[in-house]
Amino acid sequence: MNKVMISPSILSADFAFMGENVVMLEKNGADMIHCDVMDGVFVPNITFGMKMISDLKPKVNIPLDVHLMIVNPEKYVEKFISSGADYLTVHLEATENPAKTLKQIRSLGAKAGLCIKPMTPASDLQKYIDLVDLILIMSVEPGFGGQKFMPVALEKIANVKKMIGERNIVLEVDGGINAENAAACISAGANCLVAGNAVFKAEDKAATIRALKCD
Ligand code: DX5
Ligand code: ZN
Repeated sequence: MNKVMISPSILSADFAFMGENVVMLEKNGADMIHCDVMDGVFVPNITFGMKMISDLKPKVNIPLDVHLMIVNPEKYVEKFISSGADYLTVHLEATENPAKTLKQIRSLGAKAGLCIKPMTPASDLQKYIDLVDLILIMSVEPGFGGQKFMPVALEKIANVKKMIGERNIVLEVDGGINAENAAACISAGANCLVAGNAVFKAEDKAATIRALKCD
């Protein structure tokens, strides 16, 4: 089986100590840092923008996995990549021309990610499959950490896994992931798990990250 990566979400961190938080995550075995960018329009919450990405970039050696929950992400793709996003993921529901946006991301040297909300069918991803390096399946409605995992995501992960076939694409799942449902996500085909509360609420972060990998 493919190696499973854990991408802890800094949405659950204390924002006043973000630098220390990402250093701590890398030390404790995180494979990437999941950065949730929210605009208060695509989702009801507001977080941070590209300055957070450029400030965090020199703190860690692992990739910054930037999840844009913003409308018209194409307007900001260039800025997020020059700020240090390694993976830049946009929502299928948020961009008028996903193919163009994904090509733009790749042409600027970043890995292109495409995300769908829980109610968007997995089949909508099919026509973009050769334009992506990462597919992100939301297992909660985007906007907030600490929500309950929606099992509907498992079937979608399995469908997308089939769609991916032999392609080298990261299959990531985001929302409500914990030690109870991680194994089901992995056996459905996910090879990257985002975890906010599960990691930040844990006393022993390294043990929790290891446990989420289920290996
Ligand atoms: C939700 C975000 C998630 C969130 C996950 O919109 O995309 O990345 O931070 O947090 P948990 O793991 O607590 O559900
Ligand atoms: Zn996210």
